[in-house]
Amino acid sequence: MHLQTNGVVMKFKGLTALDGVDIDISKGEIVGLIGPNGSGKTTLLNVISGVFVPNSGRFRMGDREWSSVSLREAACLGIRRTFQNIRLFPSFTVLETVEVAAAWLDRGDRRENALRALDELNFRQHCGRIASELSYGMQRRLEIARAIAGKLEFLLIDEPTAGLNHAESQELVEVIQAIRERRGCGIVLIDHDLHVIMNVCDRVIVLAEGKVIACGTPQEVRRDPLVINAYLGS
Ligand SMILES: Nc1ncnc2c1ncn2[C@@H]1O[C@H](COP(=O)(O)OP(=O)(O)OP(=O)(O)O)[C@@H](O)[C@H]1O
Ligand SMILES: [Mg+2]
Repeated sequence: MHLQTNGVVMKFKGLTALDGVDIDISKGEIVGLIGPNGSGKTTLLNVISGVFVPNSGRFRMGDREWSSVSLREAACLGIRRTFQNIRLFPSFTVLETVEVAAAWLDRGDRRENALRALDELNFRQHCGRIASELSYGMQRRLEIARAIAGKLEFLLIDEPTAGLNHAESQELVEVIQAIRERRGCGIVLIDHDLHVIMNVCDRVIVLAEGKVIACGTPQEVRRDPLVINAYLGS
């Protein structure tokens, strides 16, 4: 199954944040999404996950096609996400945080789905801890646990390693790979850490000024003169 965008345009007043974006992600692959600050990476996740309604363009997943969805509809289709700036309910426990997300999608299996997601992140022993009292690295992991509770076809992760040290980043990368292995989902990973991107991604898509300027294997993208010019530098 594929998740595709076709000609997606997103404007904020005079600014065109996405300028006709076509991407195609398969289930089972990890695709890096890179590009300069302000190139539209987060905006692309926002339109795919139903945070924003784009000005034009269409989306397709399997045999379903749409031009806009709500955040909940996208999540119910199995399109799940994390946020660039951590957004947790500060006073909730770890279990409550994940259970609320699981219940939002499917009231039936919420406890089971929440515990399964926490197990996948080796988080079950922290179930009773308060979200705001966790370390920053653990909050990042809790966000991912929340995003994988219940149905998961495609996972969109926005800068998970920002602010983490090398060991924490490495651990998070292993967690992301394990989710792909276990669930067989497609993953879109935004990150400015190119070691992370080049090591973990099967393919990389490069955005600049709201347009896809390159798409290919990490090796292909790294050599692409357009990418070097717009993002990587010499
Ligand atoms: N809600 C919004 N309202 C107005 N402008 C916005 C909004 N969200 C994004 N933008 C603008 O759209 C452009 C793309 O922003 P976006 O956050 O998608 O970039 P990004 O590639 O994720 O950057 P970064 O690497 O800094 O996270 C920027 O010029 C940004 O200022
Ligand atoms: Mg961003």
